Amino acid sequence: MQPLLLHFDDETCAGALAHAAGLGAATIERHRFPDGELRLRLPPALPSRVVLYRSLHQPNEKLVELLIVARAARELGARELVLVAPYLAYMRQDMAFRPGEAVSQRIVGAFLGELFDAVITVDPHLHRISRLSEAVSARLAIAASAAPRIGAFLAEHGNDWLLLGPDAESAQWVAQAAAAGGFEHAVCTKARHGDREVSIDLPDLPLRGRRVAIVDDIASTGRTVAQAASLARAAGASEVVVAVTHALFAGDALAHLQSAGVSQVWSTDSVPHASNRIALAPLLAQTLAELSLL
Ligand code: R5P
Repeated sequence: MQPLLLHFDDETCAGALAHAAGLGAATIERHRFPDGELRLRLPPALPSRVVLYRSLHQPNEKLVELLIVARAARELGARELVLVAPYLAYMRQDMAFRPGEAVSQRIVGAFLGELFDAVITVDPHLHRISRLSEAVSARLAIAASAAPRIGAFLAEHGNDWLLLGPDAESAQWVAQAAAAGGFEHAVCTKARHGDREVSIDLPDLPLRGRRVAIVDDIASTGRTVAQAASLARAAGASEVVVAVTHALFAGDALAHLQSAGVSQVWSTDSVPHASNRIALAPLLAQTLAELSLL
């Protein structure tokens, strides 16, 4: 039997991946009991390889869903389970910053590794480690990057962008996006003082009259990209746009970007959001094919 792509009904991009990968797709039925518990129903006979599509923004309940679905899928005949999670949550808490803090990256990574044979994601936030397999203990733990696609997308909107990463961690994505689009690039330095408090220093290069694209993996509160944008505008940039892989944009993030002088916000569709412009289905299908998982 051909591998099957399973997804929940709120995963708007799962159909595009099934199409791009040439996979059949089925929806997991979900019933919520009055007390909040879930009843999940999968197709009763599964092929030996099942690909589950679940992007892990707002992850807490989804992690319980993954536990139930993965265990049920094996009972229903799946022998190999592949998780495609375009956004992989809990990757930023990668050390105990204060004694006693849980290192969520390691704990969630081990949880996924116990449930799935392969985990595929896009631009996970790997700061103090270099490979996803150091965090996720599945047999295959693969990180694809949307950065070249972000670079190519920016190139459709001009050939004169200066790509600016807001912090040292963004250097990897900014460099790849710049190479794909043929752009200059540089990174800022950032210090975080709280959930919504960051301070940023621009790199030492002239920004007057430049079109600047702030490129990062994640925008959550938006404070990081907003602060970089605001400084770039103050330094004379003629236009500042933001391009990110994961558009979490919590709370008033977008309003904050607007008041920082950002003219456009663009993102991939790893997290459904009005700013989505760059489809990840081709990249994910290509990754599945390269790993011989189709
Ligand atoms: C951290 O270094 C990440 O790459 C992002 O810069 C960060 O998560 C963005 O968070 P926020 O939007 O809340 O400033």
